[in-house]
Amino acid sequence: MTAPLFAAAPWWRPSTGRTLAIKGGKPLVGSYPISGAKNAVLPLMVSALLTPHLVTLHNVPANLDVAVLAELLQRLGCSMNWSTTNGLSVTLCADRVRPRSIDQDLVTRMRASVLLLGALLARCGEAQLPLPGGDAIGLRGIDFHIAGLRAMGATVELDGGTIHATAPHGLRGAEILLPMPSVGATENLLLAAVLADGTTTLRNAAREPEIADLATCLIAMGAKIAGVGTHELTVEGGAPLKGAVHAVLPDRIEFGTLACIAAVTDGEMVLPNSHIDLLGTAAQSFEAAGVELRDAEGSVIARRAAGGLRGIDVTTGPYPEFATDLQAPVMALLASATGASAITETIFEQRFRHIDELRRMGANISVVSRTALVRGVDRLHGAAVTCTDIRAAAALVIAGLGASGETVLNGLDHLDRGYDRMVEKLAACGADIACGG
Ligand code: EPU
Repeated sequence: MTAPLFAAAPWWRPSTGRTLAIKGGKPLVGSYPISGAKNAVLPLMVSALLTPHLVTLHNVPANLDVAVLAELLQRLGCSMNWSTTNGLSVTLCADRVRPRSIDQDLVTRMRASVLLLGALLARCGEAQLPLPGGDAIGLRGIDFHIAGLRAMGATVELDGGTIHATAPHGLRGAEILLPMPSVGATENLLLAAVLADGTTTLRNAAREPEIADLATCLIAMGAKIAGVGTHELTVEGGAPLKGAVHAVLPDRIEFGTLACIAAVTDGEMVLPNSHIDLLGTAAQSFEAAGVELRDAEGSVIARRAAGGLRGIDVTTGPYPEFATDLQAPVMALLASATGASAITETIFEQRFRHIDELRRMGANISVVSRTALVRGVDRLHGAAVTCTDIRAAAALVIAGLGASGETVLNGLDHLDRGYDRMVEKLAACGADIACGG
């Protein structure tokens, strides 16, 4: 038997090889269960560092980012007990934490590792973290995180590529105004604030559903947080936290990706563990583009509307506006819609790297500043393409499934980072998809 890639995540197996070959043009029909949200489970796992008691998470997505974070947490002294009997669950126990033992290689694989900063500072009074990595989609500074932690009394210094943060006398509550509603900064400061002494007010906070999910779990652990789901969070910090049991909310980005796949292949897919409201205002954009969604007892049924796919205008923005994580998937869908679409990206300044790859498949897309003008073509054709980030990878899968001929994808780690067994689940719905190399 081969040793697991990550000792802390023995369930982890890459679902893809070095390349992924897709023969497009088959309508996908069947059930594709939506997993727990990647962007919720990562901060939830980090929240276990705040308490010596057990935190159990159900509905954990089996993806590469979760495996990497598990490895990081284990090296920090947090033990994990995994169960695969009813989906993937984990019980984390951080009764002993070693704040200095962070692995540079692992941290640079994933942006969410920056969340360790707030949790470690709050629990241990110190943290040393190499600057985090993640997708190459923009500058992705962490200045809001650092300014907020400094306002709470931490000393934070950058030395070469490492962040050194200390709060020997503990963190204290503060009034913090975020320059923009950053998801990561809101989570980091929330994790710090629940153990900080006194009241923290976080204004212009992000209000993505994944943040409400984190707050719900922290409240179950005994934290006092008001304003959940709004742009202003108030935290009465300082009380020790107990353990909790929490089910991770469904992944709205995986759900949106699969809705695109059902529509582009002109199939009909049942998406258990989802509901339309998860999409925020993107639900209206989907409908306008000819993606028909229907709620049905804990599932959504997705297919192409009778009138076909139509071009629409989309502008990404903080929740509940159109999610930047759905921008690339929707562009792949609109590439073969009737008419033109204008897609404007306002969150990340370099999140158009999928466009060159879609062009290889025959897409007609031009870029003016932060707007991509997509003129729908009859049909894309297969090509050899490279995934540049998680959602670019999803976009290329959508394009490949809708295209004529064979598409071969490279750079597949990106797909595994964010999608739980996508290849297996698509094949079960009739996709002609196979890993190679
Ligand atoms: N920003 C700063 N300074 C900061 C923090 C953010 O300038 O201190 C800027 C960023 O450079 C970016 C913008 O603010 O231009 C928004 O960044 P945000 O902090 O909201 O994003 P994030 O926390 O880095 C999370 C998700 C992303 C998702 C964004 C926006 C996780 C692990 N990642 O990133 O997910 O796109 O929020 O919704 O939750 C993905 O899943 O593919 C993905 C990239």
